[in-house]
Amino acid sequence: MKIIGAEHSQVLAAKTARILDAELLSAEFRSFPDGELYVRAEASGDELVIIGSVTNSDSLIQLLLLIDACEAEDLTLVIPYMGYARQDKKFRPGEPISARAVARALSQGTDRVFTINVHEETVLDHFTVPAENISIAESIGDYIRRMIPKNPLVLAPDEGAADFAADVAKSAGCEYDHLQKTRLSGTEVNIAPKNIDAKGRSVIIVDDIISTGGTLAMAAGMLREQGAAEVHAACVHGVFTNGGYARLASANIRSIAASDTIESGASRISAAESIAAALKQR
Ligand code: R5P
Repeated sequence: MKIIGAEHSQVLAAKTARILDAELLSAEFRSFPDGELYVRAEASGDELVIIGSVTNSDSLIQLLLLIDACEAEDLTLVIPYMGYARQDKKFRPGEPISARAVARALSQGTDRVFTINVHEETVLDHFTVPAENISIAESIGDYIRRMIPKNPLVLAPDEGAADFAADVAKSAGCEYDHLQKTRLSGTEVNIAPKNIDAKGRSVIIVDDIISTGGTLAMAAGMLREQGAAEVHAACVHGVFTNGGYARLASANIRSIAASDTIESGASRISAAESIAAALKQR
Protein backbone atom coordinates (compact mmCIF):
# COMPACT_ATOMS: atom_id res chain seq x y z
CA MET A 1 0.00 0.00 0.00
CA LYS A 2 1.20 3.51 -0.86
CA ILE A 3 -0.13 6.65 0.82
CA ILE A 4 -0.19 10.17 -0.51
CA GLY A 5 -1.38 13.25 1.36
CA ALA A 6 -3.02 16.33 -0.10
CA GLU A 7 -1.21 19.58 0.61
CA HIS A 8 -2.94 20.30 3.91
CA SER A 9 -3.10 16.71 5.17
CA GLN A 10 0.60 15.90 4.86
CA VAL A 11 1.31 15.34 8.55
CA LEU A 12 -1.69 13.05 8.99
CA ALA A 13 -0.74 11.12 5.84
CA ALA A 14 2.85 10.70 7.09
CA LYS A 15 1.70 9.52 10.54
CA THR A 16 -0.72 7.03 8.99
CA ALA A 17 1.96 5.71 6.64
CA ARG A 18 4.36 5.26 9.56
CA ILE A 19 1.80 3.28 11.57
CA LEU A 20 1.09 1.01 8.59
CA ASP A 21 4.71 0.83 7.50
CA ALA A 22 3.45 1.93 4.07
CA GLU A 23 5.37 3.90 1.48
CA LEU A 24 4.65 7.66 1.69
CA LEU A 25 4.57 9.40 -1.68
CA SER A 26 5.11 13.10 -2.16
CA ALA A 27 3.42 15.48 -4.56
CA GLU A 28 3.91 18.97 -5.90
CA PHE A 29 1.24 21.58 -5.27
CA ARG A 30 1.30 25.06 -6.72
CA SER A 31 -0.87 27.46 -8.66
CA PHE A 32 -0.65 29.03 -12.09
CA PRO A 33 -0.41 32.83 -12.40
CA ASP A 34 -4.15 33.00 -13.12
CA GLY A 35 -4.91 31.19 -9.86
CA GLU A 36 -5.68 27.76 -11.32
CA LEU A 37 -4.23 24.96 -9.23
CA TYR A 38 -1.51 22.57 -10.36
CA VAL A 39 -0.79 19.15 -8.89
CA ARG A 40 1.86 16.65 -9.86
CA ALA A 41 2.13 13.25 -8.23
CA GLU A 42 4.04 10.30 -9.52
CA ALA A 43 1.64 7.92 -7.88
CA SER A 44 0.94 4.53 -9.33
CA GLY A 45 0.58 1.04 -7.97
CA ASP A 46 -1.80 -1.70 -6.95
CA GLU A 47 -3.13 -0.09 -3.82
CA LEU A 48 -3.06 3.65 -3.33
CA VAL A 49 -4.55 5.71 -0.52
CA ILE A 50 -5.12 9.46 -0.79
CA ILE A 51 -5.62 11.35 2.47
CA GLY A 52 -7.01 14.85 1.95
CA SER A 53 -9.38 17.11 3.84
CA VAL A 54 -11.80 19.44 2.13
CA THR A 55 -11.31 22.61 4.15
CA ASN A 56 -12.19 25.08 1.39
CA SER A 57 -12.88 25.22 -2.33
CA ASP A 58 -9.18 25.08 -3.31
CA SER A 59 -8.57 21.93 -1.31
CA LEU A 60 -11.57 20.34 -3.02
CA ILE A 61 -10.16 21.12 -6.48
CA GLN A 62 -6.72 19.94 -5.36
CA LEU A 63 -8.21 16.64 -4.23
CA LEU A 64 -10.03 16.17 -7.55
CA LEU A 65 -6.77 16.81 -9.41
CA LEU A 66 -4.86 14.43 -7.15
CA ILE A 67 -7.40 11.65 -7.73
CA ASP A 68 -7.07 12.21 -11.46
CA ALA A 69 -3.26 12.16 -11.31
CA CYS A 70 -3.12 8.83 -9.46
CA GLU A 71 -2.84 5.67 -11.48
CA ALA A 72 -3.85 2.81 -9.25
CA GLU A 73 -5.55 -0.53 -9.55
CA ASP A 74 -7.34 0.24 -6.31
CA LEU A 75 -7.76 3.78 -4.97
CA THR A 76 -9.02 4.57 -1.48
CA LEU A 77 -9.87 8.14 -0.60
CA VAL A 78 -9.77 9.21 3.05
CA ILE A 79 -11.49 12.57 3.64
CA PRO A 80 -10.57 13.48 7.23
CA TYR A 81 -12.68 16.65 7.20
CA MET A 82 -15.41 16.87 4.65
CA GLY A 83 -16.25 20.50 4.15
CA TYR A 84 -19.63 21.32 2.59
CA ALA A 85 -21.14 18.41 4.55
CA ARG A 86 -23.19 20.75 6.73
CA GLN A 87 -25.31 21.79 3.72
CA ASP A 88 -26.84 18.33 3.64
CA LYS A 89 -30.35 19.41 2.66
CA LYS A 90 -32.13 22.19 0.83
CA PHE A 91 -32.82 24.59 3.68
CA ARG A 92 -34.42 27.04 1.24
CA PRO A 93 -35.85 26.42 -2.24
CA GLY A 94 -33.23 26.78 -4.93
CA GLU A 95 -30.29 25.73 -2.76
CA PRO A 96 -28.03 22.81 -3.69
CA ILE A 97 -27.40 19.82 -1.49
CA SER A 98 -23.73 20.72 -1.37
CA ALA A 99 -22.76 17.54 0.48
CA ARG A 100 -24.23 15.53 -2.40
CA ALA A 101 -22.43 17.57 -5.07
CA VAL A 102 -19.09 17.14 -3.29
CA ALA A 103 -19.62 13.44 -2.58
CA ARG A 104 -20.53 12.69 -6.20
CA ALA A 105 -17.52 14.58 -7.54
CA LEU A 106 -15.08 12.87 -5.15
CA SER A 107 -16.47 9.43 -5.97
CA GLN A 108 -15.22 9.66 -9.55
CA GLY A 109 -12.03 7.61 -9.95
CA THR A 110 -12.05 6.20 -6.42
CA ASP A 111 -12.97 2.71 -5.27
CA ARG A 112 -14.00 3.51 -1.71
CA VAL A 113 -14.18 6.43 0.64
CA PHE A 114 -13.65 6.91 4.37
CA THR A 115 -14.76 10.03 6.23
CA ILE A 116 -14.04 10.90 9.84
CA ASN A 117 -16.89 12.01 12.11
CA VAL A 118 -18.74 13.39 9.14
CA HIS A 119 -21.37 15.88 10.24
CA GLU A 120 -24.31 13.56 9.40
CA GLU A 121 -23.78 9.94 8.39
CA THR A 122 -26.62 10.22 5.84
CA VAL A 123 -24.10 12.17 3.72
CA LEU A 124 -22.36 8.84 3.04
CA ASP A 125 -25.33 7.79 0.87
CA HIS A 126 -24.37 10.45 -1.67
CA PHE A 127 -21.08 8.78 -2.59
CA THR A 128 -21.44 6.50 -5.58
CA VAL A 129 -18.76 4.13 -4.22
CA PRO A 130 -18.78 2.32 -0.83
CA ALA A 131 -18.35 4.91 1.90
CA GLU A 132 -17.75 4.44 5.62
CA ASN A 133 -17.42 6.82 8.53
CA ILE A 134 -14.70 6.44 11.16
CA SER A 135 -15.21 7.91 14.64
CA ILE A 136 -12.23 9.10 16.64
CA ALA A 137 -14.27 9.45 19.86
CA GLU A 138 -11.96 6.89 21.49
CA SER A 139 -8.84 8.96 20.76
CA ILE A 140 -10.53 12.06 22.15
CA GLY A 141 -11.44 10.08 25.28
CA ASP A 142 -7.80 8.95 25.66
CA TYR A 143 -6.68 12.56 25.38
CA ILE A 144 -9.15 13.64 28.09
CA ARG A 145 -8.00 10.87 30.44
CA ARG A 146 -4.40 12.10 30.13
CA MET A 147 -5.30 15.79 30.23
CA ILE A 148 -7.77 15.82 33.15
CA PRO A 149 -7.01 12.78 35.28
CA LYS A 150 -9.36 13.75 38.14
CA ASN A 151 -13.04 12.98 37.51
CA PRO A 152 -13.78 15.13 34.43
CA LEU A 153 -17.31 15.75 33.20
CA VAL A 154 -17.76 15.42 29.44
CA LEU A 155 -20.48 17.67 28.06
CA ALA A 156 -22.06 17.84 24.63
CA PRO A 157 -23.11 21.38 23.68
CA ASP A 158 -26.55 20.11 22.59
CA GLU A 159 -28.62 16.95 22.43
CA GLY A 160 -27.48 16.27 18.86
CA ALA A 161 -23.90 15.75 20.05
CA ALA A 162 -24.91 13.63 23.06
CA ASP A 163 -24.12 10.26 21.44
CA PHE A 164 -20.67 11.48 20.47
CA ALA A 165 -20.10 12.72 24.04
CA ALA A 166 -21.22 9.32 25.36
CA ASP A 167 -18.62 7.56 23.20
CA VAL A 168 -15.91 10.00 24.27
CA ALA A 169 -16.83 9.60 27.96
CA LYS A 170 -16.83 5.80 27.68
CA SER A 171 -13.26 5.90 26.45
CA ALA A 172 -12.25 8.51 29.05
CA GLY A 173 -13.97 6.48 31.78
CA CYS A 174 -16.02 9.37 33.13
CA GLU A 175 -19.52 10.83 33.32
CA TYR A 176 -21.21 12.72 30.52
CA ASP A 177 -24.23 14.89 29.96
CA HIS A 178 -25.47 17.39 27.42
CA LEU A 179 -26.21 21.06 27.74
CA GLN A 180 -29.78 22.19 27.57
CA LYS A 181 -30.92 25.64 26.57
CA THR A 182 -33.86 27.04 28.55
CA ARG A 183 -35.41 30.31 27.43
CA LEU A 184 -35.94 32.54 30.48
CA SER A 185 -37.41 35.51 28.61
CA GLY A 186 -37.48 37.05 25.13
CA THR A 187 -33.83 38.05 25.51
CA GLU A 188 -32.42 35.67 28.14
CA VAL A 189 -31.45 32.01 27.84
CA ASN A 190 -29.87 29.72 30.38
CA ILE A 191 -27.57 26.93 29.26
CA ALA A 192 -26.84 24.21 31.82
CA PRO A 193 -26.14 20.46 31.92
CA LYS A 194 -29.43 18.57 31.74
CA ASN A 195 -28.80 16.10 34.57
CA ILE A 196 -25.44 16.65 36.28
CA ASP A 197 -24.39 19.66 38.39
CA ALA A 198 -21.17 21.17 36.98
CA LYS A 199 -20.31 22.96 40.26
CA GLY A 200 -16.70 22.35 41.23
CA ARG A 201 -16.14 20.01 38.27
CA SER A 202 -13.51 20.07 35.53
CA VAL A 203 -15.73 20.19 32.49
CA ILE A 204 -14.71 19.39 28.94
CA ILE A 205 -17.13 20.34 26.19
CA VAL A 206 -16.81 18.07 23.16
CA ASP A 207 -18.22 18.61 19.68
CA ASP A 208 -17.63 17.34 16.16
CA ILE A 209 -16.80 20.79 14.79
CA ILE A 210 -15.63 24.04 16.32
CA SER A 211 -16.19 26.64 13.65
CA THR A 212 -16.57 30.22 14.95
CA GLY A 213 -16.37 28.97 18.54
CA GLY A 214 -19.61 30.83 19.31
CA THR A 215 -21.47 27.75 20.60
CA LEU A 216 -18.70 26.74 22.99
CA ALA A 217 -17.80 30.24 24.17
CA MET A 218 -21.38 30.88 25.27
CA ALA A 219 -21.63 27.49 26.98
CA ALA A 220 -18.29 28.02 28.76
CA GLY A 221 -19.42 31.39 30.12
CA MET A 222 -22.61 29.86 31.52
CA LEU A 223 -20.74 26.93 33.06
CA ARG A 224 -18.32 29.25 34.85
CA GLU A 225 -21.30 31.17 36.26
CA GLN A 226 -22.71 27.85 37.46
CA GLY A 227 -19.49 27.19 39.39
CA ALA A 228 -17.55 24.83 37.11
CA ALA A 229 -13.95 24.72 38.40
CA GLU A 230 -12.48 24.84 34.89
CA VAL A 231 -13.74 24.49 31.34
CA HIS A 232 -11.87 22.80 28.49
CA ALA A 233 -12.86 22.20 24.86
CA ALA A 234 -12.10 19.37 22.46
CA CYS A 235 -13.36 18.62 19.00
CA VAL A 236 -12.68 16.45 15.98
CA HIS A 237 -12.54 19.21 13.37
CA GLY A 238 -10.98 22.51 14.43
CA VAL A 239 -12.15 24.88 11.71
CA PHE A 240 -11.59 27.97 13.91
CA THR A 241 -12.94 30.36 11.32
CA ASN A 242 -13.49 34.06 11.91
CA GLY A 243 -11.22 34.23 14.97
CA GLY A 244 -12.75 31.10 16.49
CA TYR A 245 -9.66 29.98 18.43
CA ALA A 246 -9.12 33.40 19.99
CA ARG A 247 -12.84 33.62 20.83
CA LEU A 248 -12.50 30.46 22.92
CA ALA A 249 -9.14 31.35 24.45
CA SER A 250 -10.48 34.73 25.55
CA ALA A 251 -13.63 33.07 26.95
CA ASN A 252 -11.48 31.59 29.69
CA ILE A 253 -11.40 28.10 28.26
CA ARG A 254 -8.39 26.47 29.88
CA SER A 255 -7.39 24.24 26.96
CA ILE A 256 -8.58 23.87 23.38
CA ALA A 257 -7.79 20.69 21.47
CA ALA A 258 -8.68 19.50 18.01
CA SER A 259 -7.57 16.55 15.96
CA ASP A 260 -5.38 16.67 12.88
CA THR A 261 -8.27 16.19 10.43
CA ILE A 262 -7.56 19.89 9.94
CA GLU A 263 -3.88 20.43 10.65
CA SER A 264 -3.15 23.39 12.93
CA GLY A 265 -1.37 24.36 16.12
CA ALA A 266 -4.43 23.12 18.01
CA SER A 267 -4.06 19.56 16.61
CA ARG A 268 -3.27 17.73 19.85
CA ILE A 269 -5.15 14.55 18.97
CA SER A 270 -4.39 12.40 15.94
CA ALA A 271 -6.79 10.54 13.71
CA ALA A 272 -3.91 8.48 12.28
CA GLU A 273 -4.42 5.35 14.45
CA SER A 274 -8.12 5.21 13.56
CA ILE A 275 -7.44 5.70 9.85
CA ALA A 276 -4.71 3.04 9.91
CA ALA A 277 -7.04 0.57 11.65
CA ALA A 278 -9.78 1.19 9.06
CA LEU A 279 -7.34 0.79 6.16
CA LYS A 280 -6.06 -2.49 7.61
CA GLN A 281 -9.58 -3.88 7.86
CA ARG A 282 -10.91 -2.84 4.50
C1 R5P B 1 -23.32 21.99 14.58
O1 R5P B 1 -24.22 21.27 14.21
C2 R5P B 1 -21.95 21.47 14.89
O2 R5P B 1 -22.00 20.23 15.52
C3 R5P B 1 -21.19 22.46 15.75
O3 R5P B 1 -21.85 22.55 17.00
C4 R5P B 1 -21.13 23.79 15.10
O4 R5P B 1 -20.63 23.68 13.81
C5 R5P B 1 -20.25 24.73 15.91
O5 R5P B 1 -20.25 25.97 15.27
P1 R5P B 1 -19.63 27.25 15.95
O6 R5P B 1 -18.25 26.90 16.48
O7 R5P B 1 -19.58 28.26 14.85
O8 R5P B 1 -20.53 27.68 17.07
